[in-house]
Amino acid sequence: MAAPEALQRQAGEVLAGLQAHERELFALRLDRWYEDLLDGLAAVYPSEQVGPLVGRVVRLAAAAYADRAPELKRLDQARSLEPDWFQHPRMLGYAAYADRFAGDLTGVRQHIPYLEELGVTYLHLMPLLRPREGPNDGGYAVADYRSVRPDLGDVEDLRKLASALRDAGISLCLDLVLNHVAREHPWAVAARAGDERYRAYFRLFPDRGGPEGPDAYERTLPEVFPDFAPGNFTWDDDVGAWVWTTFNSWQWDVDWSNPDVLCEYADVICFLANLGVEVLRLDAIAFLWKRVGTSCQNQPEVHALVQALRAVVRMACPAVVFKAEAIVGPSDLIAYLGRGAHHGKVSDLAYHNSLMVQIWSMLASRDVRLTAVALGRFPARPSTTAWITYVRCHDDIGWAIDDGDAAAAGISGFEHRAFLSDYYAGLFPGSHARGLVFQENPVTRDRRISGSTASLAGLDEALESGDPARLDLAVGRILLAHAVVVGWGGVPVLWMGDEIALRNDEHWADEPAHADDNRWVHRPRLPWAAAARRDDPSTVAGRVWAGVRHLAQVRASLPHLHASVRSEVAEVHDPGVLPVLRRHAVGAFLALYNVTESWRPYPAHAVAALGLERPVDRLGGHVVEPGGDGNLWLPPYGAWWLTSG
Ligand code: GLC
Repeated sequence: MAAPEALQRQAGEVLAGLQAHERELFALRLDRWYEDLLDGLAAVYPSEQVGPLVGRVVRLAAAAYADRAPELKRLDQARSLEPDWFQHPRMLGYAAYADRFAGDLTGVRQHIPYLEELGVTYLHLMPLLRPREGPNDGGYAVADYRSVRPDLGDVEDLRKLASALRDAGISLCLDLVLNHVAREHPWAVAARAGDERYRAYFRLFPDRGGPEGPDAYERTLPEVFPDFAPGNFTWDDDVGAWVWTTFNSWQWDVDWSNPDVLCEYADVICFLANLGVEVLRLDAIAFLWKRVGTSCQNQPEVHALVQALRAVVRMACPAVVFKAEAIVGPSDLIAYLGRGAHHGKVSDLAYHNSLMVQIWSMLASRDVRLTAVALGRFPARPSTTAWITYVRCHDDIGWAIDDGDAAAAGISGFEHRAFLSDYYAGLFPGSHARGLVFQENPVTRDRRISGSTASLAGLDEALESGDPARLDLAVGRILLAHAVVVGWGGVPVLWMGDEIALRNDEHWADEPAHADDNRWVHRPRLPWAAAARRDDPSTVAGRVWAGVRHLAQVRASLPHLHASVRSEVAEVHDPGVLPVLRRHAVGAFLALYNVTESWRPYPAHAVAALGLERPVDRLGGHVVEPGGDGNLWLPPYGAWWLTSG
């Protein structure tokens, strides 16, 4: 469906100062994405609002296009020629707080060679737009979307950094916190001053009663931070109302049913895109739409809104892709990559939270059977999208183990979740882990876990024991976990410090604003003195660095790992070995992962039956030969990536 004449004319007026071929390019894009935009908006807003809203949004997209730097317009063209750029096996992500990684934005720029050495092609810098003063949830309480946290630099530094990263082949990813703003954001300040226009940006309730009041909603709403921010509403004296606050009391949920809110965020998106941001992480996207009687997560309107915003991006700055941060169950998660009418029209990337949880589950139980059930049942995703795979990130780990999956694997979901919390808090007999319990919920008895990869994988315990064999096992677990995420197909994202096996930060609570949030235990500062010894193979840091780099290098050489192909769990023959199969047109790829500290078998005939002849382990660089019993034997925590020789 082409865009109506009148709409093209409106866009044309905004673009009047551009050359004819540039105007024509925008007109083509408008025709191409008009339907997605219209359908998205029509699914959310009353019909009488849709027409004017489409016009407003298209004018805004046209203005952003007109403003876009030539270097970025060139990138738009390059990406249009290679729309699968983020699916390529060369992709390797790294996520960090700018200050904890390198002091400030200039420091990050100076450390680009470190990232290049690791093979990084995508850098997610944690929230760096100006947050509120005082506690700000690690920057997730934004006070100004158009300025940078002053101690990190300014907008020009951000632009320079994005450009330097791009020159090094690294795409910059930033958070777009679009479910809430800080209580100190100008919209909230105006609302508090009684400005009706801005009061309508939030969800305010004069009292708790009524069919659509806070009490009615609370009946079905879960709590995100039951410990330090119980409930989902906060009374605010200034505004004289209960404010919807899903997260902390000073993070005010905005009201997406107000079209002004949509236009504000469309504009923020274009602003960030024009600074050179290439990936926008849609923070807490699941929470955007509220509906009484539900958990107020994963509502259909969320996907319609993202479809509309993506259409704006495709018109104004098509180099940019969206990454959904939806930490939700498998059946809800797939919708963020597009299901049904939204197939391939929403986010391009989404976090594979289940894979992350399953990795930690396998390492604790030394058993892959639950993982095989859970990942085996995972619904298919559109082939144009990709998973973000990760071992750890800045957040805690919530044990997203589905009761049905657990039952199908012959265990109790509740007990397994309790076991994982005990195990990673170091409470289970024989546990090697040193995690901390985050947000214990007395009602659901849910206990999430904080802690760095190395500390959860047993490195502290191994070092204290002084036993080199234990050290080998801890390093083995760290590298195995990374092998699974790097070998999955998608964009593997390393959490800062994991590449040199940083352990928990003992001083995490020293900063008063962090003291009640133990997620800071795994958000250390990068110790550059230790990182400087990364090439020393006698250190744990050196072993892990070399191991992770090797994974990235081998991955980049394997077309089998292009994200258009899905990973399937093949038949489990030994409960200690996870087989992951990728049926790529260039040939089959079979990864075998031993999640235990003993030697484990996988039958050679099963490998042959999956289509691999004379299998070569591409990580080890040699042909794998069966033993006399017809099995291939994997060493403790061994990871093999097999292709036909
Ligand atoms: C996301 C972030 C988390 C933050 C929350 C609220 O889930 O990952 O760190 O607390 O959003 O913005």
